[in-house]
Amino acid sequence: MKKKTVRDVDPKGKRVFVRVDFNVPLQDGKIVDDSRIKAALPTLNDLLDRGASLIIASHLGRPKGKVKPELSLAPVARRLEELIGRSVKMLSDCIGPDVEKAAGGLKPGDVVMLENVRFHAEEEKGDEALAKQLAGLADLYVNDAFGAAHRAHASTAVIAQFLPSAAGLLVEKEVQVLTQLLEDPERPFAAALGGVKAKIGVLENLMAQVDTLIIGGGQAYTFLKAKGLEIGQSVFDEGSFELAKGILSKTEGGRPQLLLPVDVVVTTPEGVEFEPTVKRVEGAPIEVAASDAIPADMMGVDIGPETRKLFAEAIGNARCVVWNGPMGIAEIPEFTEGTRAVARAVADSDAYSVIGGGDVVAAVEQLGFAEKFSHVCTGGGASLEFLEGKELPGIAALPDR
Ligand code: ADP
Ligand code: 3PG
Ligand code: MG
Repeated sequence: MKKKTVRDVDPKGKRVFVRVDFNVPLQDGKIVDDSRIKAALPTLNDLLDRGASLIIASHLGRPKGKVKPELSLAPVARRLEELIGRSVKMLSDCIGPDVEKAAGGLKPGDVVMLENVRFHAEEEKGDEALAKQLAGLADLYVNDAFGAAHRAHASTAVIAQFLPSAAGLLVEKEVQVLTQLLEDPERPFAAALGGVKAKIGVLENLMAQVDTLIIGGGQAYTFLKAKGLEIGQSVFDEGSFELAKGILSKTEGGRPQLLLPVDVVVTTPEGVEFEPTVKRVEGAPIEVAASDAIPADMMGVDIGPETRKLFAEAIGNARCVVWNGPMGIAEIPEFTEGTRAVARAVADSDAYSVIGGGDVVAAVEQLGFAEKFSHVCTGGGASLEFLEGKELPGIAALPDR
């Protein structure tokens, strides 16, 4: 990476402001998955080992500029304490006299954690005054928040104008892995995309580099419709429709190879509740339909058995795989088989494999396949934007080496 990293700085005796992405999933105040905390440990330990004191900052959820006690980072500080094996003092805000006092008294090896930076509306606005106040707490800024690097917020980007700055080891690793995929992947290189968020930008950017494009999950229906097929009540992204048609025509000659579902699992639109949590409605029908025979009153919720074989075989033939987005509504056990089949294909292969995306990573972790991947991205939106070829503001803000 051409950016300065913690390797290029001497943190001895310095108070280091470390922006991490500890936006972890919580349920009833408990941390459901602490992998984002674990992923920051190499940077935190490295700085502490070299004689720094740490002021750790993160956001949690989307409190929209209000203090929301349920989005306090206090449980995260306690978990970090266990993982890092030293005391982590939780502060009640991220700025103000009390915080300044705590930061001023730091000695090498001390660790404090600021309260959720998004309790201040200025954070998401990228406000310079807030960035300056945060910078005033420290001697050095380290950004290790890869998951939030696509946000141009006060603590993720703007603060770098006011302090000597460097990237953390997690940011360095993520950038290195994703750059390698975009610039020099081992071949054959397969990309699998699922989920519902529009990923057409990633597809367009990867087109020139991949050998095989696998499209499943909610992404697939826009393509099936672009082929002129009936998709019934399945999810459809109007905004991607024309670009999907373009990708269909560009791949007609078989370079890259485009794989779409040949069969899908369908249910009725009333068969799935999406709010407040994704749930199957007991008794709703579950059927398999060929992709050219989706009933008009049904919706596709997973890839079918033939498609699972087709996708697994394509992954088996690849030397490098990147995967983003689940192959079906993986929150529902009945509609998890497509995601499981693709995860198993990756597990069975010795290809270099990268998985990114909050939902697909959660699904693959639950299925027990996460350790089988060469790299699990800690950023959903951030990894997508990187794969779209966009510059991430949190990284762009850092000085070159
Ligand atoms: P990721 O977080 O992995 O990048 P997305 O956020 O794009 O993935 O999409 C994840 C969501 O996509 C999940 O909530 C899942 O239920 C949903 N999904 C997957 N397949 C379908 C489908 N066929 N119809 C509706 N929703 C789907
Ligand atoms: C994430 O979970 O993707 C990051 O922490 C960014 O969160 P945000 O989408 O609320 O900015
Ligand atoms: Mg998601």
